[in-house]
Amino acid sequence: MTDEKVKWNSNLSFLLAMIGSAVGLGNIWRFPYVAYTNGGGAFLIPYILSIIFLGIPLLFVEYGAGYKFKSGISKIAHKINSKYEYIGWFIQASPFLILTYYVVVVAWDLIYVPLSFFKGWGPKPEEFFTNTILQNSADPSGLFSIAIYVLIALIIVWAIVWFISHRNLNDGVGKANRILTPLLFICMIIIVAFAVTLPGASLGLTTLFTPDWNSVLNPNIWVAAFGQILFSLSIGMTITLAYASYLPDETNIPRSALTVAIANSSFEVFTAAGVFSILGFMSTTNNIPIGELVSQGTGLAFVAFPEIFNVMGTLGYVIGPLFFLCLLFAGITSNISIIEPLALSVQDKFNISRSRAVSIISIVAFVISLLFATTYGSTLLGVFDTFVNQFGLLLNVTLQTILIAVIYGLDKLLPGINKNATFLKLGKKWILLVTYIIPVISFILWIQAVFTNVIFVDSATMIVEFILLMIMLILPYILTRATPKSGDY
Ligand code: PHE
Repeated sequence: MTDEKVKWNSNLSFLLAMIGSAVGLGNIWRFPYVAYTNGGGAFLIPYILSIIFLGIPLLFVEYGAGYKFKSGISKIAHKINSKYEYIGWFIQASPFLILTYYVVVVAWDLIYVPLSFFKGWGPKPEEFFTNTILQNSADPSGLFSIAIYVLIALIIVWAIVWFISHRNLNDGVGKANRILTPLLFICMIIIVAFAVTLPGASLGLTTLFTPDWNSVLNPNIWVAAFGQILFSLSIGMTITLAYASYLPDETNIPRSALTVAIANSSFEVFTAAGVFSILGFMSTTNNIPIGELVSQGTGLAFVAFPEIFNVMGTLGYVIGPLFFLCLLFAGITSNISIIEPLALSVQDKFNISRSRAVSIISIVAFVISLLFATTYGSTLLGVFDTFVNQFGLLLNVTLQTILIAVIYGLDKLLPGINKNATFLKLGKKWILLVTYIIPVISFILWIQAVFTNVIFVDSATMIVEFILLMIMLILPYILTRATPKSGDY
């Protein structure tokens, strides 16, 4: 049965879980690219301002709501007014879809962990990744043929994720993060320490951090900074809200939120220094302009980096495995965090045990994730990712702030947030910012994202987007209409 009293057994467990969730693949393979392509050192200005005026204020909303209601977003929406329950479930649809493909990316990485010990990707990493691992086909008929390595790795990752998440909070999520989050930081520190000593590292660092001051006036850079912060702090996925619902009464919420935001951003700026030192090394060694080497996402992790490890000699056998282990730890801690809000909402409504809720969600998400273990999988994954990020998450931020700030009222969250606050207490300015300014900004960002990345696409993408939209609309409807098994619904 739902154990209403489940709490983090220590503040450290909670903080490490929050940091483990925020620090994900986005910090390692997205931030360096976004910073470089958006003004380099000058990007730090919109970036830091976005943390202060967008990221942290929104973190406080999720902290405050989770802490006050001690439940997931669907039940919160229901409690605010039962007619809003649908919005609560709608908000959960995007994290659910992310869950179905994020595990697959972690699975790709899992394949590279053993390979990295002997540079098993061979002399042509790009061909290896596309043809051997993904067996990539751009034709939808590829949905009927399995990419076997991906499938095996996927089953292993699901087993790990399920095993951690189905246990009780402190023995599962708490313990995993107490081990994996520090390990992730240690591995990254070793990588960066080696990376900055490589020949050419200073070229990489100057390329990354040299400010292009004119760019600060370019609105696109501000949009990029907002987007990076929302994604990096996992805002709009209701993870923070779920984790905060298990906080003990004596928590100092402002201090905790600031710690998470600072740790997350320090990690990503630090990582970017490592990534660019490594790119600088490649540029110097092989005489390739650094601009031609810079990439993000899978192109960086599974193509550019293996190529660099190939020319790095023995050091490649150290940095390579550490790099793929970092991605693995970062991926797993983010993965388990995204199951949490879903499991919490299912427990809230259907009054089943945590273990059962996690098992049901894992099985359904596992079945969907099989689509990505086919040879059409990586193409499909790209469409899922763009749609959920550009359409789903930005809309979530808008809906969530409207629901909690505009409709419910942030003043009701203030006593909880400020209860144990010491140096920072929230007040009117935070309420005004979140109630009147942020929903407008996030709505404008959403419109902009929909017009640039969602509407003008080819017809195959359009069909997938339509199916996703239907899932996002229908699944929440079914869950809203389902009869609650819990008395206080
Ligand atoms: N902040 C995470 C990242 O940078 C975002 C995320 C969290 C994605 C949880 C998926 C699951 O990768």
